[in-house]
Amino acid sequence: MDNGFYIATMGCQMNEYDSESLAQALMEYGYQPVDNPENAKIVLINTCTVREKADQKAMSLLGRMSRIKARRPGMVLGMVGCLAQKEGKHLFHRFPQLDMVAGPRELADLRSILDAVVLQGKRMIATRLDLPPSNPAKIHQLHEKKVSAYVSIMQGCDNFCTYCIVPHVRGREISRSPREIIDEARFLVAQGVKEITLLGQNVNSYSWEDRTVSYNFVSLLQAFAEVEGLMRLRFTTSHPKDLSDDLICCFRDLDILCPHIHLPFQAGSNEILRRMKRGYSREQYMELVCRLREVVPDIAVTSDVMVGFPGESLLDFEETVDLMGKIRFDSLFSFKYSDREGTLAARMDQKIGEEEKSRRLSRLQALQRHITLQKNRALEGKEAIVLVEGCSKKGGQMMGRTDTNKIVNFYSNNNKIGDIVKVYIKRSFVNSLWGEPTH
Ligand code: SAH
Ligand code: SF4
Ligand code: F3S
Repeated sequence: MDNGFYIATMGCQMNEYDSESLAQALMEYGYQPVDNPENAKIVLINTCTVREKADQKAMSLLGRMSRIKARRPGMVLGMVGCLAQKEGKHLFHRFPQLDMVAGPRELADLRSILDAVVLQGKRMIATRLDLPPSNPAKIHQLHEKKVSAYVSIMQGCDNFCTYCIVPHVRGREISRSPREIIDEARFLVAQGVKEITLLGQNVNSYSWEDRTVSYNFVSLLQAFAEVEGLMRLRFTTSHPKDLSDDLICCFRDLDILCPHIHLPFQAGSNEILRRMKRGYSREQYMELVCRLREVVPDIAVTSDVMVGFPGESLLDFEETVDLMGKIRFDSLFSFKYSDREGTLAARMDQKIGEEEKSRRLSRLQALQRHITLQKNRALEGKEAIVLVEGCSKKGGQMMGRTDTNKIVNFYSNNNKIGDIVKVYIKRSFVNSLWGEPTH
């Protein structure tokens, strides 16, 4: 197809959000989405570089797409996102088929980059990091209908945790204006969106001031509570060092805010937390979770953790296991530490071997499976409020999420996507619940 585009997205929600903006910008420009890169005029790979594995995945996809382009010379091939930012011109040298490389901060200017590539046949590299946050092309048409959408409220990160590449590839922290954010939310709601997740690397350091208004994250949440037609609000990610009591109280005071927080702890040992430069201790982290549960007893708490940070002793690791046992997270994303060139941790000594990292990871994942299952079991026989997000084409099976972000599957012939349904939970698994509508 002469005007088809295909975007492959890897990495986190930020990238999903950016890909949606790219898709909208391309549609504005007269292109149409296609399901197969073989039929596309423009193919973009939106990449992640948070761990070594992400790099490998992106490079192997780039190899595959380059082979397609070798057979179809008219195709435009671009690599965008975090790995594109990091590798910049190296990619151009290695992949002669590549027409453009653009970092995450440059994506707002996709059109001028594409003009240079498509109309003038140039190869383009765009990796500036000091651009202001863009107002993405969101005031047009959603690229596909959905019930749940993301809204970015800030870009970049200033925390420089010693293991993390994100500040190096997404640039300094900068907030978007509340007016732009709320306008985008209204637009999404008008298109049928019922649930919005606010995105930022550290949403609770959101801050905006101009001549007329001054906002922090709590006042932004309060403004969202006034958006008519919006049923659920979530946010990710919040950093424990900036989690204020005012924000904790929002979970109680704002009906629209779902009782779920994703609060990465990364490690249970104070020595490791210090060397990660996380800015809190295990005791402070545990106190925060206690306070959250005091204010909203049923709040779901999920987290990220890493094993095998340089110098992590077996005792340090046991402290992570111990913290997991004490907190009992609803679910947990766990990773093996991976060296990222240019970060402080990459230069630390006492690196942990791959096999040992895998052993620690398996131990931790087995424990978490057990805890998640126990927590899900406790929901059997109870009622859950579910927002329906999808349904199978035949058979009337529907999928939705509880306000605590757990997946629920159930049969129903009289509900549709976007409905809020009361479901009686009959069975529980590690990754989902099974139930029946109560009516
Ligand atoms: N801004 C978010 C996290 C973004 S990265 C926050 O501060 O929580 C998502 C997760 O990837 C992190 O929480 C961390 O657990 C993991 N991660 C980041 N860098 C990593 C590395 N070098 N090796 C392994 N995991 C890493
Ligand atoms: Fe990375 Fe830390 Fe920033 Fe999160 S807060 S993006 S882990 S530097
Ligand atoms: Fe996200 Fe990966 Fe970039 S986690 S911010 S896409 S490095």
